Amino acid sequence: MNRPILISPSILSADFARLGEEVRAIDAAGCDWIHVDVMDGHFVPNITIGPMVVKALRPHTQKVMDVHLMITPVDPMLDAFAEAGSDIITVHQEAGPHLHRTIQRIKALGKKAGVSLNPSTPAKMLDYVLEEIDLVLVMSVNPGFGGQSFIESQLRKIEAIRKSIDKLGKPIHLEVDGGVDAATAPRVIAAGADVLVAGTATFRGGPATYADNIRGLRGA
Ligand code: DX5
Ligand code: ZN
Repeated sequence: MNRPILISPSILSADFARLGEEVRAIDAAGCDWIHVDVMDGHFVPNITIGPMVVKALRPHTQKVMDVHLMITPVDPMLDAFAEAGSDIITVHQEAGPHLHRTIQRIKALGKKAGVSLNPSTPAKMLDYVLEEIDLVLVMSVNPGFGGQSFIESQLRKIEAIRKSIDKLGKPIHLEVDGGVDAATAPRVIAAGADVLVAGTATFRGGPATYADNIRGLRGA
């Protein structure tokens, strides 16, 4: 089946001193979504940004704000990220004991709900929520940092989840996050992904290269 491939550059690899300009630059360079990596220094060993920064970036682009919450507990922050202008709110399956309720809350806030799986988490953990969500985010690195190497074992997880999504017959995005570049992108797409997160691979060469980098990934 020919699925359009969407590119969601992760601003974790952008120049944090010029985030607004960088968001405008990747928007103009033709990205489909903006991937915002939120880290709390507790669920992952790094701290990045909170809802105030999503709110500050919101007026700089009309593109989908694809917000990846690597935080725990996640429920107390859902309303703030929804009000800040997130379009997709993705939570980690591992972040707490009440994933089904968390997904209900995201949808009650009028946002698209995503669930992310860390590399060691099996696809079966989605069995009782897949029909409730709009997106699955497969981590192909251990979350916390950009520029890491792609974890090969995740390819078979992507294939398994693609099969489950197609069996369900619902338009659920399958997004892959971490170590996605010109070399790994074709394999991730062949395994069944339709949305590629790319931090380093988008921002690596500076603003003059963003459009080519994005085009290269989409056409991989
Ligand atoms: C890692 C983040 C990823 C990361 C991807 O915890 O969730 O989105 O920024 O960066 P690259 O594309 O450089 O691996
Ligand atoms: Zn991410």
